[in-house]
Amino acid sequence: MTGVDLAIDLAGVALPNPVMTASGCAAAGRELDQFFDVSELGAVVTKSIMRDPRSGRPTPRMAETPSGMLNSIGLQGPGIDSFLANDLSWLTQRGARTIVSIAGSAVGEYAELASRVGASAGVSAIEVNISCPNVENRGLVFACDPAPASSVIAAVRGEVPSEIPVFAKLSPDVTDIVTIADAVMSAGATGLSMINTLLGIAIDPDTLRPVLGGVTGGLSGPAIRPVALRCVWQVHAAMPDVPIIGIGGIRTGFDALEFLLAGATAVQVGTVIFHDPSAPMRIVSELAAELADRGIKSPAEVVGFAHRSGDAE
Ligand code: DHB
Repeated sequence: MTGVDLAIDLAGVALPNPVMTASGCAAAGRELDQFFDVSELGAVVTKSIMRDPRSGRPTPRMAETPSGMLNSIGLQGPGIDSFLANDLSWLTQRGARTIVSIAGSAVGEYAELASRVGASAGVSAIEVNISCPNVENRGLVFACDPAPASSVIAAVRGEVPSEIPVFAKLSPDVTDIVTIADAVMSAGATGLSMINTLLGIAIDPDTLRPVLGGVTGGLSGPAIRPVALRCVWQVHAAMPDVPIIGIGGIRTGFDALEFLLAGATAVQVGTVIFHDPSAPMRIVSELAAELADRGIKSPAEVVGFAHRSGDAE
């Protein structure tokens, strides 16, 4: 017994703990269920779903980098019909809380997906992936510009019942993330998921050409954690009441605690799952121990605590 109650309120949604899987790192949760009971997670965040089935980018699609990973999947997926019939229904039956990630190549596609997902049972929240790096051109990374980012979020919000929170997933590859955060919150987002991967490239020493079939890919893992923490810090400083889900290279309970201290209400765990599939539940117990060691009774007590130290800002 640690005397810690890990339960949180995330934008009105009650979760048993603040740890979720990050989108794209555990499909729709089924593979992870052989390692632990996915209903014990704070929530499962599903791989971004698009309207139509999609085969994704050419191989190779993954490359190891120092303390990180590059990937270029290209939003491969079964399409919304199959997702709702097979994946969402499985998660609901399993008793997992589900955050559905959606991605589109135009505002209308996001709106259509939001309306389908918003009308389905068993959805705790929607995460809007406006920051996938692996799209045909940079113009499709809606989160790089406040106007298109706002158009997508306003369209999604208009299709989703008000009790379902809408989280906008932001890219760190911008000049000022606070400007983007402000724009999507004004457009009706309930909260923010930060951060998505950073755009990167790796070159193969034998072929002397890019490793990834798609040339560029999204960088994730511990290498990006300080960047993610900085984004959470800046947005929490500017908008302390906005619920933030912190994401970026978390692999231990202390890493998760760092994000809470910077201003996140919850966290997502991604890249570590590829080599340690049990990591999400290990991080739940480690976070409880980290809080207990410091005499903290609940995650909510420490959200944004690092900002309170006066001259650290
Ligand atoms: C993909 C999507 C992402 O949002 C990301 O960060 C990395 C990869 C993809 O499907 O290619």
